[in-house]
Amino acid sequence: MNEGLGPLAGRRIVVGVSGSIAAYKAVSLVRMLGDRGAVVDVAMTAAATRFVGPLTFESLTHRPVLDDVFELDAEQQIAHIELAEAADAIVLAPATANLIGELAAGLVGDAVTAIACASRAPVIVAPAMDAGMWTHPATQRNVATLRDFGYILVEPEVGELASGLTGIGRLAEPPTIVAAVEHLFARAGDLEGLHVVVSAGGTREPLDPVRFIGNRSSGKMGAALAEAARDRGAAVTLIAGVMSVTPPRGVTVIEATTAHAMRESVLRAAPNADILVMAAAVADFAPARASQRKIKRSGDTLQIELVPNPDIVAEVGEMPDEVRPFLIGFAAESNDLEANAAAKLRDKGLDLIVGNVVGGPFDAIGSDENKVTVFAAEGALTDWPMLPKRQVAERLWDLIADRYRHSRGATESTTSPRRRRS
Ligand code: C5P
Repeated sequence: MNEGLGPLAGRRIVVGVSGSIAAYKAVSLVRMLGDRGAVVDVAMTAAATRFVGPLTFESLTHRPVLDDVFELDAEQQIAHIELAEAADAIVLAPATANLIGELAAGLVGDAVTAIACASRAPVIVAPAMDAGMWTHPATQRNVATLRDFGYILVEPEVGELASGLTGIGRLAEPPTIVAAVEHLFARAGDLEGLHVVVSAGGTREPLDPVRFIGNRSSGKMGAALAEAARDRGAAVTLIAGVMSVTPPRGVTVIEATTAHAMRESVLRAAPNADILVMAAAVADFAPARASQRKIKRSGDTLQIELVPNPDIVAEVGEMPDEVRPFLIGFAAESNDLEANAAAKLRDKGLDLIVGNVVGGPFDAIGSDENKVTVFAAEGALTDWPMLPKRQVAERLWDLIADRYRHSRGATESTTSPRRRRS
């Protein structure tokens, strides 16, 4: 079956196979990609060739397998660099702990690492390994490094492993990996030409030179949104409060750690933005006065007077239409999510609001996962499960990009941004 017209038609995809028992699943993966019209080249590590013979892949792709850069003659050496340049995507499946470690460290000892390193194409990594290896801090650190490079992870699944034990580490099924590749091409560039501003992290409202009132926000959700927008082609500005994660590469970072600093940065950036996502946890109150000197202990109780902070997103919501960006807020609620989110959507003049529950078993703050519901004026739009924040970010951009285009589509071209000042 060659569907021909799907998102993979004519795409050059390199599948890098490393030495895991799951290498046999790469055979179905390569076949499925080929069935969807992709031109697939396979690169194998030496260990992979002990699990599956290169001939199996060559029979499917009708193309030579690259399995040892050092045995290639000069012409083939160039061919393999050309392949890295020609690739539209690289899919590493299965990716062993060793391959992930080599890539994280920049070690380029074989055809798979050489192509992944030489190429500027997006890289999808589908790990497969024993549960102990997957959860080992070294692997998790290396995976985090690959995410920092912008690699897309197709998370391993829970199931029976080669050891016979059940745990996390099983290679995602080929259809899941194919879906990740299709998603990459389906959405690639859908934010091209747009300037997206994302605020992330928490604010700290100073009490004295060493103390502050803050919150538990990690900035992970905002960082994931900024990263996903970057990958979809947007020019991204991240207005960063206090974050426990490193901001993604390739985005402009503006630090703003108090509500007032964040207000200044957001109000300055908003008129040049097409879309503003206020994911930051901005303190609603700040101490009326910050002491210049460290407050000394005394036997007495200490009264702190708190004054309300400006509601930044509500100020943007009131901007005139010509400068007001498409506006998305967050609502972290411990109870009555729907009613509170709906009230905030209205009161703050938002286009969409992303509601999540804080406290209790679904606590989103600081977590790597999040369960959100998106609301528009007409009510709840989504019913998503608990998902890794990067996946939440992708789904949010699918929805935001669609709504943004509709909101702008009535008056002007859907492909050009609403305004461009700079
Ligand atoms: O009212 P509440 O703080 O729950 O509203 C949350 C939403 O409003 C978030 O999008 C947050 O970034 C934004 N916010 C703001 N300025 C504040 C407080 C919250 O922009 N002072």
